[in-house]
Amino acid sequence: SRVINVALLGNGTVGKEVAQCITERHEELRARSGVAVQLAGVAVGEPSRHPEVPRSLLTTDPYSLATRADVDVVIEAMGGLDPAYPVVSSALESGRPVVTANKELVASYWSQLHKSAAAGHSDFRYEAAVAGAIPLVTPLRQSLSGDRISNFTGILNGTCNYILTAMDIHDQPFDAALQEAIDLGYAEADYARDVKGIDTADKAAILASLSFDTVVDRAAINCEGITNVSITDIRSARDRGHVIKLIASCQRPTHDDDNVPLEIDVRPTAIPRSHPLATVSGATNGIEIEAALAGNLLLCGPGAGGQPTASAILGDLFTVIRNTYA
Ligand code: NDP
Ligand code: HSE
Repeated sequence: SRVINVALLGNGTVGKEVAQCITERHEELRARSGVAVQLAGVAVGEPSRHPEVPRSLLTTDPYSLATRADVDVVIEAMGGLDPAYPVVSSALESGRPVVTANKELVASYWSQLHKSAAAGHSDFRYEAAVAGAIPLVTPLRQSLSGDRISNFTGILNGTCNYILTAMDIHDQPFDAALQEAIDLGYAEADYARDVKGIDTADKAAILASLSFDTVVDRAAINCEGITNVSITDIRSARDRGHVIKLIASCQRPTHDDDNVPLEIDVRPTAIPRSHPLATVSGATNGIEIEAALAGNLLLCGPGAGGQPTASAILGDLFTVIRNTYA
């Protein structure tokens, strides 16, 4: 069977799970997909931190790996914008499909990356960038693309939801809950991106671009995170039959006027315990989408962590393989 060479950029919480699936489940994945997927190389920051990866596969030069002649598909799980942006855009422009988990990258360079993909006729996929394992990007790009979405409301950050749930159910202090979320691999390398709402805003920007066929100006989104939510706020919400969640919401502008900017709202919100999103707890994410034909959809599932994210990446990888190499 045909061999597909994958360049894996990043071998951290997410990358490690992807590498493990590709190597340990090689035969099963070959039987299922008809192709043999193998790692062509793994780009990391510091090779000595990755003793489980054969030294011959390791490199500290993601650019050279991603544009190497024998590489068929690039998986980006390094995070950040530099070198992720130049590497991913070059790979796309050179005709290589790219799968990424990096929401900061996708939200910040939405137009540029889609242009690079178009220029290189390359498949560009980012299911893992929004809400972990929940199929969301692909349904918005495909199953719901003939419908008209009017609004979405979601819990899109596992770290924040883990912290708020621990404060609510276990009266746990903020810092202790944050440390647990970091230890469990849910938080970003810079956890300020989680707790300040920046990561949620990135994901909301991606969802809004897909839902409303527009290009969201990421820099224009105001977001409020959870750093000012106290145990007292949580208890007083509880006494009123409410629960505090970090909610992202956006609705289609009422009239299709290009001058009316899309408003994306990211802020801690007290919602009634009876609200469908009130039961979304821990690192789970949940999103309600209202569409003209479909009505109300509620999607919930693991929103962070190595394995749920690897699930979304592998799904994209096999979609890319089917679309490009089948
Ligand atoms: P980690 O910090 O755990 O891993 C990052 C990896 O990238 C490390 O292996 C690091 O190498 C490598 N790396 C960083 N900079 C460079 C560089 N300049 N050149 C080569 N390699 C580099 O992050 P995560 O795995 O948690 O996240 C990766 C991406 O996935 C991010 O975009 C994140 O937002 C996204 N994501 C994460 C989820 C999660 O639950 N953790 C869920 C969904 C998406 P070294 O180890 O040697 O420093
Ligand atoms: N840090 C992110 C979160 C990872 O906690 O939701 C998943 O995107």
